Amino acid sequence: MARILVTGGAGYIGSHTCLELLHAGHEVIVFDNLSNSCEESLIRVQKLANKALVFVKGDIRDQKGLDQVFQDHSIDAVIHFAGLKAVGESQQIPLTYFDHNIAGSVQLMQSMEKAGVFTLVFSSSATVYDEANISPLNEDMPTGMPSNNYGYTKLIVEQMLQKLAQADARWSIALLRYFNPVGAHKSGQIGEDPQGIPNNLMPYVTQVAVGRREKLSIYGNDYDTVDGTGVRDYIHVVDLANAHLCALNNRLSAQGCRAWNVGTGNGSSVLQVKNTFEQVNGVPVAFEFASRREGDVATSFADNARAIAELGWQPQFTLEDMLADSWNWQKQNPNGFN
Ligand code: NAD
Ligand code: UFG
Repeated sequence: MARILVTGGAGYIGSHTCLELLHAGHEVIVFDNLSNSCEESLIRVQKLANKALVFVKGDIRDQKGLDQVFQDHSIDAVIHFAGLKAVGESQQIPLTYFDHNIAGSVQLMQSMEKAGVFTLVFSSSATVYDEANISPLNEDMPTGMPSNNYGYTKLIVEQMLQKLAQADARWSIALLRYFNPVGAHKSGQIGEDPQGIPNNLMPYVTQVAVGRREKLSIYGNDYDTVDGTGVRDYIHVVDLANAHLCALNNRLSAQGCRAWNVGTGNGSSVLQVKNTFEQVNGVPVAFEFASRREGDVATSFADNARAIAELGWQPQFTLEDMLADSWNWQKQNPNGFN
């Protein structure tokens, strides 16, 4: 049992991870500015776990606020989700992304060092891999310059964390490279609740199915893939949450900085996702083909052997489970947490 600080813990992946941490008997302190989430997610997490967590509203760019949290609670390790994640927006306002994602992460590392806490799990992304790599992507493949500023912030923070661990042996850092998180807790009480028009496929599909949007635009049907549409590795958010617990266990007894892919190892095309969603849930999803989206690659899926071998982690959920759980959440909460 450990006391874990979860930055960005009110968000989509953070809330699911908090629930798994509570289930596993850990104490949880969430630090979140609620810029892309609401406290209701944490209220529901506590109800589902039948156990309380501590919520501190704050911004990771506020060093004093962060230092105070480390003073008030005897933290053993940090899981760092807080940050901005909209790829398109990162092209419009790069400085804001550098500030939250890079400067905010540096402030967090400084507060950790001051407090003598050196165990960290960081939310990275498959977007750090060089686009020339052929899937399945493994952790030894080269990283490259991401096509957008959001991805650039993930690569920079990964590199900073690697250098930090090289310079100071007290650090123990996990870089989790997520593929495409989808799904929701099986209760349908917590799930993904994007503000405004969704950028990602799954919330767009569920919002069309529930009648909030007219039709899905499928970005490109002329890729060199099974049916011409883009192929990705969708991973259930509860499997992803559990990967954080496995990484935490690994890091509490290790040194250095190491990267792990978190994906199922299976690629699914956009059309396969749409068709399977319709079959599993019995609801139609209107769609049209549109032109390719700038910056998209044809195919991206994980080699997840390292996480399975070293973390003792194993994904449990199928694509059908993911699509059923996404719909269960959306159906019960047509307007998200509001
Ligand atoms: P999310 O937006 O739901 O959660 C992020 C949380 O961080 C939100 O609750 C938000 O209010 C909070 N936050 C943002 N800026 C903050 C700041 N400066 N100080 C304190 N809190 C702040 O996003 P998510 O999908 O749960 O993603 C979590 C992490 O995983 C992010 O770092 C994201 O970049 C990364 N990631 C997500 C995906 C994905 O597809 N969802 C893929 C790869 C990596
Ligand atoms: N897609 C559509 N229509 C939509 C949304 C998406 O056809 O309305 C397609 C995309 O073209 C892609 C697939 O669905 O083929 C998945 O797209 P997402 O936006 O859901 O996911 P991405 O793989 O593009 O995004 C992921 C992560 C980001 C990361 C990015 C890097 O969600 O965090 O990869 O490219 F930065």
